This record gives sequence, C-alpha cells and structure tokens, in this order.
Amino acid sequence: MGVLIGSLVRITVMVGVIICTADPGKAAIHFHKRKHRASASRSAHVDHQLSQLPPTNSYYNKSTSPGSAIVFNVMEMGAVGDGKTDDTQAFKDTWKAACSVESGTLLVPSDNIFTIRSTIFSGPCGTGFVFQLDGVLMPPEGPDSWPESDSKQQWLVFYRMDGMVFTGQGTIEGNGEKWWNLPCKPHKGPNGSTLGGPCESPTMIRFFMSSNITLRDVCIENSPRFHVKFDGCEDVHIEGVSISSPALSPNTDGIHIQHTKYVTIYNSMINNGDDCISIGPGSSNIDIQNITCGHSHGISIGSLGVHNTEACVSNITVKNCVIRNSDNGLRIKTWQGGMGSVTRIIFDNIYMENVRNCIIIDQYYCFTKGCINQTSAVYVDGITYTNVKGTYDVRSAPIHFACSDTVPCTNITMSEVELLPFKGQLVDDPYCWNTYGVMQTVTIPPISCLRQGKPQLLREHSVYTC
Ligand SMILES: *[C@@H]1O[C@H](CO)[C@@H](O)[C@H](O)[C@H]1NC(C)=O
Ligand SMILES: *[C@@H]1O[C@H](CO)[C@@H](O)[C@H](O)[C@H]1NC(C)=O
Ligand SMILES: *[C@@H]1O[C@H](CO)[C@@H](O)[C@H](O)[C@H]1NC(C)=O
Ligand SMILES: *[C@@H]1O[C@H](CO)[C@@H](O)[C@H](O)[C@H]1NC(C)=O
Ligand SMILES: *[C@@H]1O[C@H](CO)[C@@H](O)[C@H](O)[C@H]1NC(C)=O
Ligand SMILES: *[C@@H]1O[C@H](CO)[C@@H](O)[C@H](O)[C@H]1NC(C)=O
Ligand SMILES: *[C@@H]1O[C@H](CO)[C@@H](O)[C@H](O)[C@H]1NC(C)=O
Repeated sequence: MGVLIGSLVRITVMVGVIICTADPGKAAIHFHKRKHRASASRSAHVDHQLSQLPPTNSYYNKSTSPGSAIVFNVMEMGAVGDGKTDDTQAFKDTWKAACSVESGTLLVPSDNIFTIRSTIFSGPCGTGFVFQLDGVLMPPEGPDSWPESDSKQQWLVFYRMDGMVFTGQGTIEGNGEKWWNLPCKPHKGPNGSTLGGPCESPTMIRFFMSSNITLRDVCIENSPRFHVKFDGCEDVHIEGVSISSPALSPNTDGIHIQHTKYVTIYNSMINNGDDCISIGPGSSNIDIQNITCGHSHGISIGSLGVHNTEACVSNITVKNCVIRNSDNGLRIKTWQGGMGSVTRIIFDNIYMENVRNCIIIDQYYCFTKGCINQTSAVYVDGITYTNVKGTYDVRSAPIHFACSDTVPCTNITMSEVELLPFKGQLVDDPYCWNTYGVMQTVTIPPISCLRQGKPQLLREHSVYTC
C-alpha cells in the first residue's frame, strides 16, 4: 500500500505541474473510488463470458445515449485500474470484444488509472467503434520499467481502423520525464548532446494505415516523444484536444502528420517542448484552425528531404491560430539535398506573442553544424502569409527566408504582416536569400529583399513535381 500511495502522489505532482487545462476538470484524477480486485480470477471469469458471445449480460449493456452503442467497460473485463497493476490483458480482451460488434465502445472509466504496456490495437472493427477514455491511461514509467520485449518506438498503435472515434474527458499521462533525461537527448542530457548513441523513446499514440479517424476532447500529456502521430492515414479529424508537456521536454511534438491526407485540426491547445504541429513528407489537404500553441516550437512543415529523400507537401491552410512564447512561429524546414516540393501553403490570421523566428523558411536545416551544401533541394513554392501580427523575441529576426542556392523559393506572398518586439529594440533585419515573391502591403518590419518575378530554374522540372 505504501508503494501504491507513493506512486499516486507522484502522479498528482505531475498533474499539478502540467497545464492540460483547456478544461480544468479534464485532467483531474480522482483517487477515492479506487477498487481492488483479484485480477486473475476476474480474467478467468471474463474469458468464460467471452466464449459465450453475444450474451445479454452486464458486459453488453446498451448505453442510454442515442444510437445503439454497446459498451464494454475495461473494469468489467478484469482491469484493476489502480495505476500500478499491468492492465494490458484486460484492455486487449476488451478491445477484442468491442471491436467485433457493430457500434462497440471500449470504455476506460473515470475514477481509475490504468497502466498498460506498448500495444497494437488492430482493426478493422465493426462500424461505429468508439474508444471512450474517461479515466487516466499511462505507459510504464521510464526506460527502466519498459519491458525489454516491447517496442521502444511507440506505445499505443491503432492500426487499420476505419471510422474510429477516440474521445472522452480522460487523460493520457505519458510519464515522460525519465525519457527526457536520457543522456543522449538534446537539451536535457548532462552535456546536452544529440550524439550520445541510441536514444529511442516511444511516440505515445500512433494511428497507422487508418481512415476516417476522429480524435476529440482528450487530454494528452508528458509524452516520452511525439504525443500523437498519424502516418499512412486519410480523413483525420482532430477537435478540442489538449496536449501538454514542459518546454524543455525534447522531441515531444504535439501532433505529427506524415503520408496522410485530408486532415482537420480544430480548436485545440498545445504546449510542449518541440513542434506544436509538424507536417512531414507525403502530407496534403490539411486544414488547421483555432489552435493555440505555446510554449512550443511552433507550427512546422518539415523537416523534409533528409538523406536526399523526396518530400511532397501541398495544400496546407493554417488559419486563426495563436502562437505564444515559442521558439518558432510558422516554419518550413528542409535539408540540403532533398527532392520534391512544398506548395500551396496558406498562413492566415495568425497572432504571435513573444515568438522567436515568427516566419521562417530554412532550407539549410541541420542538427549539427557539419551539413554540406548540395545541389538538389525540396522546391518551396506558393507560400502565403496574410494577417500575421503580434510580437517577437528580439533574440532572432522575426522574418527569415533562407532558400536554397540552386532552387530558389518562389511565389512567396506577404500581406498585412506586422511584427513588433515583445520587449527591447526593433530587429529591423529581415533576411531573404534567393527568395522570390511579392509584398502586397508594407510589412513591419519592412522587407526589401524579396526578388521580383520568376527565376529560371536550373534543373529539370521533373525533380520538383510530386
Ligand atoms: C449493466 O446493467 C446492469 C443492470 O442495469 C448493471 O448491474 C451492470 O453493472 C451494468 N454493466 C455495465 C458494464 O455497465
Ligand atoms: C466516418 O466515421 C464516422 C464515425 O464513426 C461515421 O459516422 C461516418 O459515417 C464515417 N464517414 C464515412 C465517410 O465513412
Ligand atoms: C559530460 O561531460 C563531462 C565533462 O566533459 C564528462 O566528464 C562526462 O563524462 C560527460 N557525460 C556524458 C554522459 O557524456
Ligand atoms: C485543399 O484541401 C482542402 C481540404 O483542406 C480541400 O477541400 C481542397 O479541395 C484541396 N484543394 C485542392 C486543390 O486539392
Ligand atoms: C473557430 O472559433 C470560432 C470562434 O469560437 C468559431 O466560430 C469557429 O467555428 C471555429 N472554427 C472551427 C473550424 O471550428
Ligand atoms: C551553404 O550555402 C549558404 C548560402 O549560400 C551559405 O551561407 C553557407 O555558408 C553554405 N554552407 C556551407 C557549409 O558551405
Ligand atoms: C501563389 O501561391 C498561392 C498559394 O499560396 C496560390 O494560390 C497562387 O495561385 C500562386 N500563384 C502562382 C502564380 O502560382
């Protein structure tokens, strides 16, 4: 019992530190209703019940909400929910049962804390499947308690799902601190090294090869690495989520998207230690609105073209967003030597507060200082900044366009861009290298370095067509 209380106190402290408070009630953890069960005998009982599908007993109650959801509560399937017991098997059993019916809901009830190991939840499931997270769900804490046999790349994976809804008033608590403090991590290791050898740590939630996915309302915090990642997906709808981890937690991107198209991200709040939203290769038709980022590294397209790879990103709209106290605002980052293109990107009505590098295109992205310049590059074309206002941290110039030597950026449009120092002297020094575009209204600070017209692209066009 002493150990149990110890671990619960620790969780309380972490929740006190984080700011997943878009809805103050959301991250609250209630300990008073903890129930202790004999999990082994419970599991046996549940196995017996499962063998009699589809029964009409208490595991399959119809919910009172409209429609005909059939609720499968992990507590009824043998989960203990004391924050300490490994409830993985109960979650797998519940998944199996809820997934196999039409309109199944896997319920993670409030008032309980569940610890489960790295798990792949595979579909397809029956239509109308819902993962209802009302309680707290956690991975084992830190690398030392991570089972050897489990993937250190990812914690929960939802694979081959179609039409799944992940929602609830609950919290995913990543317990990331011990991962952030690994000596090989940037910012945090004793010597702040990025070169300390293997530095695996798990992405918390990954949706893989899935379509029509809705992620709504949940609070996700303190991930060891990325909080949520979508790859190989289509039709993704994110709405009203809160993501939170400390400013100095390395690589904790909020929402990462790659090889995924038709995504909406609306009305969400993200504070973390890396990109608020990051958009990787193979992403298109993405609509981001009403997001508050801060502290974070801002909204990033990239990094793209690493190790001479091809990257294609197109048709991204970022609208009505606030970025505060962040290391970057709106960033496009590509490595030297890539191929492909970034096109049709619109940033519209963005408010910045105390942000370094408010507007930045960096085609010389590099972790060390030792990257050599190469002749190929990801072509950056058609980037529009409209109504981008607010304040910058004077340690960096607020506008910085560093385009490739050989492949200039083209069709960069600026309109109603007005950025003032948050504190201190104006940094009246916008930078443009090899950047073509137009200023439709005078920017603050003024930019005189944009080149007019169209450059002659030196290389065959095919390299840039995606
Ligand atoms: C289902 O309903 C019965 C009777 O109303 C109740 O006793 C039982 O706890 C319910 N089970 C679940 C999983 O909600
Ligand atoms: C997408 O999923 C939602 C929720 O499950 C469902 O209501 C909707 O019909 C699905 N849309 C398509 C186009 O399949
Ligand atoms: C950090 O640097 C110090 C001094 O250079 C060195 O003694 C120590 O071994 C380094 N620690 C790690 C984990 O690399
Ligand atoms: C751009 O993406 C939006 C969805 O965000 C979509 O409705 C629109 O058709 C796309 N435009 C093109 C030209 O693909
Ligand atoms: C953005 O917020 C405004 C104001 O709350 C709201 O009217 C609008 O519907 C939101 N946009 C989206 C896409 O949800
Ligand atoms: C790469 O090119 C840029 C722009 O011409 C230049 O400023 C930079 O010094 C070059 N870097 C190296 C390592 O040659
Ligand atoms: C310039 O880029 C914008 C999108 O940012 C696009 O709407 C427009 O058509 C482009 N103009 C040209 C001449 O390609």
